[in-house]
Amino acid sequence: MSGHSSYIPKSGIERWLDVRLPVVRMMHDQFVSFPTPKNLNYWWTFGGILMLCLVTQIISGIVLVMHYTPHTSLAFASVEHIMRNVEYGWLIRYIHQNGASMFFIAVYIHIFRGMYYGSYKEPREVLWILGVIIFLLMMATAFMGYVLPWGQMSFWGATVITNLFSAIPIVGNTITSLLWGGFSVDNPTLNRLFSLHYLLPFMILGVVILHVWALHVSGQNNPTGVEPKSSKDMVPFTPYATVKDGFAMVCFITLFAYFVFFNPGYLGHPDNYIPANPLVTPAHIVPEWYLLPFYAILRAIPDKLGGVIAMVGAIAILFFLPWLDRSKVKSARYRPLFKQAFWVFAVVCVGLGYLGAMPAEGLYVTMAQILTFYYFAHFLIILPLIGVFETPKPLPASISESVLGPKTGASTTAGAPAAPERN
Ligand code: HEM
Repeated sequence: MSGHSSYIPKSGIERWLDVRLPVVRMMHDQFVSFPTPKNLNYWWTFGGILMLCLVTQIISGIVLVMHYTPHTSLAFASVEHIMRNVEYGWLIRYIHQNGASMFFIAVYIHIFRGMYYGSYKEPREVLWILGVIIFLLMMATAFMGYVLPWGQMSFWGATVITNLFSAIPIVGNTITSLLWGGFSVDNPTLNRLFSLHYLLPFMILGVVILHVWALHVSGQNNPTGVEPKSSKDMVPFTPYATVKDGFAMVCFITLFAYFVFFNPGYLGHPDNYIPANPLVTPAHIVPEWYLLPFYAILRAIPDKLGGVIAMVGAIAILFFLPWLDRSKVKSARYRPLFKQAFWVFAVVCVGLGYLGAMPAEGLYVTMAQILTFYYFAHFLIILPLIGVFETPKPLPASISESVLGPKTGASTTAGAPAAPERN
C-alpha cells in the first residue's frame, strides 16, 4: 500500500528535515494516513500488543541485567538479590517473567487469527514467513531466559534441550559440546545462553521491522478476506486503528497487571525456586506452558532423532502453509469445512499442550501420538483436500458491502442496509 504521501510539513524545522531525512513523513504515511480496512475486529489489535510486549521485555530485561550475575555460583543468588534488595526489583522481575507469558498469549492469538482469516495467503506469504521466523526466535529467547535464574528447572531444562542436538547424525556431538562449552551444562553454557538471550530480542526487533514493512506493502487483510476495492473500504490508521489498538492495549495491560501484582508465580514452576543441583533430577522436567505442545510432540516419538525431527517439523511446516492451503477464499467466514477443521486443530494444539505437562507414560504417550499425527495431517492432508473439495459461501462484493449490506455496498447513499454479516 505504498503510494502518494499526504504529509504536509507544518513547521520550519519539519520542512528542513523533510528534504534531508523524511522520517516524519514516513511515520505519518505509515501510522497516521495509512489506509486500513474499515471492518477490522479486535483480533487485529494483537500486532500492536505484540510490539508493546517486545518493548516491555527489552526495557525490563536491560534493567534486570544491571543486577544479574551470569555465573553458576552467583546467578540464583543475584536473582534473589533483585527480588529482595533492589528497589522495585521484584516488580521489574515479575514484569519480565510474566511478560514472557503475556507475549506468548498474544503471539498465539495473532497466529491463530492469521490462520482463521487466511492472512498467510497471497500476497502476504513473505509477511507470514517473517512471522514464523519471529516465532522461532521468540521460543529460543524464552528458553534461554528461563535458564538464567539457574534454578532446578533452568538446569534440567537446559540439559534436556541441549542434549537434543546430540541426536543430529555426525555433527551432533560436536554441536552439543560447543553449546555446553565443555562436557555438560555448566558455567560456560550459562554464559553462552546469557549472551544469546541478550542478543536475540534485538534480532526479533529487526525481523519485526521487516514484518511491518511487508505488511505495509501488501496492506492488511480483513475479516472478509476480500481485498479492498476502493477508498470507501478504508479508513485512515489514525484515529481509527490507533484508538482501537490503544483500548485493546489497556485491557491487555490490565490482565498483565493481574498476574504481576496478584498471581506472579501462577504461570511458572515452583521447582525453579530451588537452586540448580546437577545431582538431583526433578520428578518431572517440564518447560514453560507456551512450549508444552512442542514438548509433547518431541516425546510422542519413541526415537530421539525422530522426536527432534517431529518437533522441528511441527514449526517448519508453518513456513509452507501458504502453499498447502490451496483455496482461493481466505476467510474462514466463507469456508464451512475449513472453519470446522480450524477449530479441531485449535483443540488438538491445546490437547498437545496438556499432554506436554503430563508424565511421558502409558495413555498420555498414546494420546500424544494420535494428536501429533493429527497435527501434521491437518497441514499435509486435511487442508490440501479441503482446498479442492470445499464449496465456499458467496463472498461479499466488497468490504463496504459486508459491513453495510448489499445495497449500500455499491453506493453509500442507497437506502436501508441489509443485515451485515458476522461470524
Ligand atoms: C514480535 C512478534 C510480532 C509482532 C510485533 C508482530 C506485529 C504485527 C503487526 C503490528 C501487524 C499488523 C496488525 C495486526 O494485523 O495485528 C501484524 C500482522 C500480521 N502478522 Fe505479525 N507480529 C509478530 C509475530 C507474528 C507471527 C509469529 C506471525 C505468524 C507466524 C505473524 C503473522 C502476521 C500476519 C499474517 C499478519 C497480517 C495480518 C492481516 O493483515 O490479516 N506475526 N504483525
